[in-house]
Amino acid sequence: MKVLIVGGGGREHALAWKCAHSSLVRHVYVAPGNAGTALEPAVSNVDIAADDIDALLRFAQRECIDLTIVGPEGPLVAGIVDRFAAAQLRCFGPTRAAARLEGSKAFTKDFLRRYHIPTASYATFTGADFDPDYIRAQRLPLVVKADGLAAGKGVVICDTHQFAIDTATGMLAGSFGAAGKTIVIEEFLRGEELSFIVIAADQQVLPLATSQDHKRRDDGDQGPNTGGMGAYSPAPLAAPALRERIMREVIEPTLRGLRQDGNPYLGFLYAGLMIADDGTLNVLEFNCRFGDPEAQAILMRLQSDLIALCDAALKGTLDEIHARWDPRAALGVVMAAGGYPENYRKGDPISGLDAAALLPGKVFHAGTQSQGSQVLTAGGRVLCTVGLGATVGAAQTQAYALVHAIHWSLVQYRRDIGCRAIARERSAQG
Ligand code: AMP
Ligand code: GLY
Repeated sequence: MKVLIVGGGGREHALAWKCAHSSLVRHVYVAPGNAGTALEPAVSNVDIAADDIDALLRFAQRECIDLTIVGPEGPLVAGIVDRFAAAQLRCFGPTRAAARLEGSKAFTKDFLRRYHIPTASYATFTGADFDPDYIRAQRLPLVVKADGLAAGKGVVICDTHQFAIDTATGMLAGSFGAAGKTIVIEEFLRGEELSFIVIAADQQVLPLATSQDHKRRDDGDQGPNTGGMGAYSPAPLAAPALRERIMREVIEPTLRGLRQDGNPYLGFLYAGLMIADDGTLNVLEFNCRFGDPEAQAILMRLQSDLIALCDAALKGTLDEIHARWDPRAALGVVMAAGGYPENYRKGDPISGLDAAALLPGKVFHAGTQSQGSQVLTAGGRVLCTVGLGATVGAAQTQAYALVHAIHWSLVQYRRDIGCRAIARERSAQG
């Protein structure tokens, strides 16, 4: 089988690497890929941007691609699955209508309310009906969100009413382009975040291993929000009883609601959850795709054939499948370019990749580009080093040994990825 992976980040490197290990797969193409995917055996890059759906479709037809797996949300929200389906091409991901779960926060909040799925209280405004008095009447802090896709930057946590009003006014005036023409103002939730990712095929669900991301850039959860600075799997927070509740209170009603609305879901479905100290759970967001860097940690632990899982979802036989997992923990540390997530440097040569390749674990590339024999930085999140270990602590040691082998000018990374899980491991040991 020939497989096409759409995207060029760390998640797509992990997807391509995992698919290339499938006995069902002859070759994997990645569009556009990165310097890491270019070096994987049985994988090649195709110079097509992830959002160029016309060119992707032409490539898939010309190369007789048997299965396309879409990494990022952009092409899914733009309707790549519908376009491929119309051309009789198998494409793993939700339709445009189902992908609105990520494409519009206002749509999703209304959906959650309609189907009684727990989420923070909120109100939605456009420029025509925005009411600053609504903000003044809310408790602080308050969360202001742009409705549409904003590359993870459209969420602002506001500590004063004036800042919330200014943020809302700025979004409505166009500071986030069309994404901010509608805004959601939401109650601030406290607790611990959990990424709960499943493969869904209408009412059939295969939950993947649990994971936890680290959204803030700096140690101790300080600094600006990012796409994710590191992740580990499994998340000790997600005990079996909590996983069952998430399935019952979030995943199943979501899939039922989508079906009831006429938009059955197929693909990876990512619920971003906030778990409060008292066990209360709330949906922060849905993503219509795998997480990044959650995919790097989760796929390191997946022992089953990923292609067989996607295939079963597409054929409607997901109920018959069980995924096998490496019992060890996996932990990934994102190495980012100086300045990320704001303006960051590009084009710095990366040293130490050859030495790192000799160490245990795996280095997934994200924003990298090759130039002759050199690998250069080419994005905000540059690499994700993943370690495996009997505990999250042991996986962390392996992941940071990889980090310490690699260098470029002004590299930045968090030094505390996994700290919460490791604290839990320590207290469980007494
Ligand atoms: P979202 O894209 O909606 O998931 O928001 C991105 C990040 O902002 C989340 O992962 C949280 O860290 C934070 N966040 C979003 N909504 C809230 C909320 N209501 N309360 C607290 N933090 C939030
Ligand atoms: N790591 C968060 C995300 O993929 O959205």
